[in-house]
Amino acid sequence: MRKWLLGTVALVLVLCGGGVAALVYYFTRPPLDVRADFDRPLAVPPIAVGKIDAEGRRVFDLRAQPGDSDFGHGTTRTWGYNGAYLGPTLRAERGEAVAVNVRNDLGETTTVHWHGMHLPAAMDGGPHRPIPTGGSFRAAWTVDQPAATLWYHPHPSERTETQVYRGLAGLFIVDDDEPAQRALPHDYGVDDIPVLVQDKEFSGGQLSMGGRFGSDIGVLGDEILVNGTPRPYLDVRSGLVRLRLVNASTARIYNFRLAGGRPFALVGTDGGLLDRPYMTEHVRLSVGERAEIVVALEPGERLTLRSERSLGGDLESRFNGGQDAFDILQLRAAATLTPATLPKTLVATPRLDPARAAQTRDFVFQGREISGRGMDMSRADAVVVKDTTEVWNVANGHDTPHSFHIHDVQFQVLQVNGQPPPPELSGWKDTVFLEPKQRYRIIARFADYADPTTAYMFHCHVLKHEDEGMMGQFVVVEPGQQPRLHG
Ligand code: C2O
Ligand code: CU
Ligand code: CU
Repeated sequence: MRKWLLGTVALVLVLCGGGVAALVYYFTRPPLDVRADFDRPLAVPPIAVGKIDAEGRRVFDLRAQPGDSDFGHGTTRTWGYNGAYLGPTLRAERGEAVAVNVRNDLGETTTVHWHGMHLPAAMDGGPHRPIPTGGSFRAAWTVDQPAATLWYHPHPSERTETQVYRGLAGLFIVDDDEPAQRALPHDYGVDDIPVLVQDKEFSGGQLSMGGRFGSDIGVLGDEILVNGTPRPYLDVRSGLVRLRLVNASTARIYNFRLAGGRPFALVGTDGGLLDRPYMTEHVRLSVGERAEIVVALEPGERLTLRSERSLGGDLESRFNGGQDAFDILQLRAAATLTPATLPKTLVATPRLDPARAAQTRDFVFQGREISGRGMDMSRADAVVVKDTTEVWNVANGHDTPHSFHIHDVQFQVLQVNGQPPPPELSGWKDTVFLEPKQRYRIIARFADYADPTTAYMFHCHVLKHEDEGMMGQFVVVEPGQQPRLHG
């Protein structure tokens, strides 16, 4: 009798409430475990070296444009820079003056932001620098920071998620003359490979942003593209291969592992190399974060890079894709491999000293606000004096994953919940995963560029959150100066 009653109640609930039915469906649907048959060679974005102009400046041209792509779903309409999907890898040396001419042929307003780059606020390409359709923008600055894997992407007000999702993103590799760069695999496209990872959802052959039921972070696709290639494999001819992992998705968090838990060397983070290679079995990247890893291969083997559970075991994690797993890329080693050895040490990174900090600020991420405020282009949330160091305490106040990004600077993580950071957070960072309910203490030096009239941004790099206003502004001024933002 009781059983019968319960069964009826359950049935009535399922039939009556779409929401309840969806919940029941959700609870019974297992997390994704997507296996790939690795039938396409990995595309490697071409390097743009630009042209040297009369002043000795390296000049690149980027045209944001629509195009057609083949992801195995017929013809998919996409966006790209100088092509149908993604963009060329821009590359410049530390110390070089560069300029990028960006032209917008998308049919809607865009901007291009140089994520991770230290540069003047007016060149930063945030929402303050809209490029109208048919218009253009020239960004010019001098590259002055350690060699690193940076990237560029649109940053227009409220449209960043859509524009990145359609394909607008590219790498900007900074080189320097540190001996470690030569000691590591460095032959681009041969043993030094960009691995720009994105998840997609297709509907009727087109990219769809329908979203996943219950996700609080936006689109969570069930297919992976690496450099725009579905199900990719890479032929490798040397014993060591360097992978520049970039999470260029809109929301998804990846926890990269090699099949069988094979250890690999983590050699770099967002803004540069680590002091030394650190052997690990996994590296987790939230949206916008990068890691450089070096993988050792055996002759003739096939080794799969995967992403496995990235968040805890709770319900919130499941809603936000934290228990999904994916095949990412298959490495196919040749029968004979060129021998290569991993250097024992890499670069000596100076540590920023919190005792010298001019300011300490606190930020709490909650809902779609940072410390109770949404984005306002006319408000300076922080006024920073040029050439000073600041400590920022950034906390995630809730269960939703966020990722914290600051423009202009590379920072160091001092503490996570009062403890020293793990090795993967020990190097230069511009973005850090804000795990639910955790506290991060970071330190940055705001050097070289002051501009009281133009703000830099700090924000959640979950692109839906960013578009919904989870963003603040800081202005770097000369001592005694006041900001004058126009909004
Ligand atoms: Cu990668 Cu403000 O952005
Ligand atoms: Cu940025
Ligand atoms: Cu967020």
